[in-house]
Amino acid sequence: EPARPLVGRRVLVTSGPTHEPIDPVRYIANRSSGRQGHAIARAAAEAGAYVTLVSGPVAQPDPPGVHVVHVESAREMLEAVEVALPADAAVFTAAVADWRVADAAEEKIKKQGTAAPTLTLVENPDILAHVSRMTKGRPGLVVGFAAETEHVIEHAKAKLARKGCDWIVANDVSPETGIMGGLSNTVHLVTATGVDDWPTLDKDEVARRLVARIATALRP
Ligand code: C5P
Repeated sequence: EPARPLVGRRVLVTSGPTHEPIDPVRYIANRSSGRQGHAIARAAAEAGAYVTLVSGPVAQPDPPGVHVVHVESAREMLEAVEVALPADAAVFTAAVADWRVADAAEEKIKKQGTAAPTLTLVENPDILAHVSRMTKGRPGLVVGFAAETEHVIEHAKAKLARKGCDWIVANDVSPETGIMGGLSNTVHLVTATGVDDWPTLDKDEVARRLVARIATALRP
């Protein structure tokens, strides 16, 4: 086992939530600390890869030795991902908001009388599905995440097929697990050939194991 098995490889990672503006001061977002995605970017860099991390707004510091692109919205994230390609492997850890506000207000919305504003939502681009289905320049290995609160493996298998990615890292993010925002994670690696149940591990260790699997998969 070489210590830096990803030397000469390009790895793209998305991390964190996206913020979808309602007006200049308000937004809708998913819950995500960015811990797992940032740990994956750091681990890939430690393995010798040239890493681009496209990150939504998080409190995590930029991992050392990683090219970090900071974005806010899903559409900005997609654009940054397209700029960052090509890559040998792409890992989509970000908790992208599924919807954005149809026409975000350019000025702060005022509280007027008693009528609360109604937000019309439109679907955001699915970055993972988009990259998975690229006919030209698709990364050799595309990895998605699936945060579920029930039927974790079933949903992950369905997601693998629906999105067209190669692997899904599935985890149970029910509030009682403490995974969301926490330091550890219990994941299942779902591939075309089967499911690996990993023990509960530090997010840094999940990242190192995933990077080791990626290195093995990329080995010529
Ligand atoms: O469909 P769902 O959001 O559960 O899928 C999760 C996976 O898809 C994650 O890898 C996430 O980063 C990715 N995703 C994405 N763009 C979206 C929604 C999800 O890349 N708009």
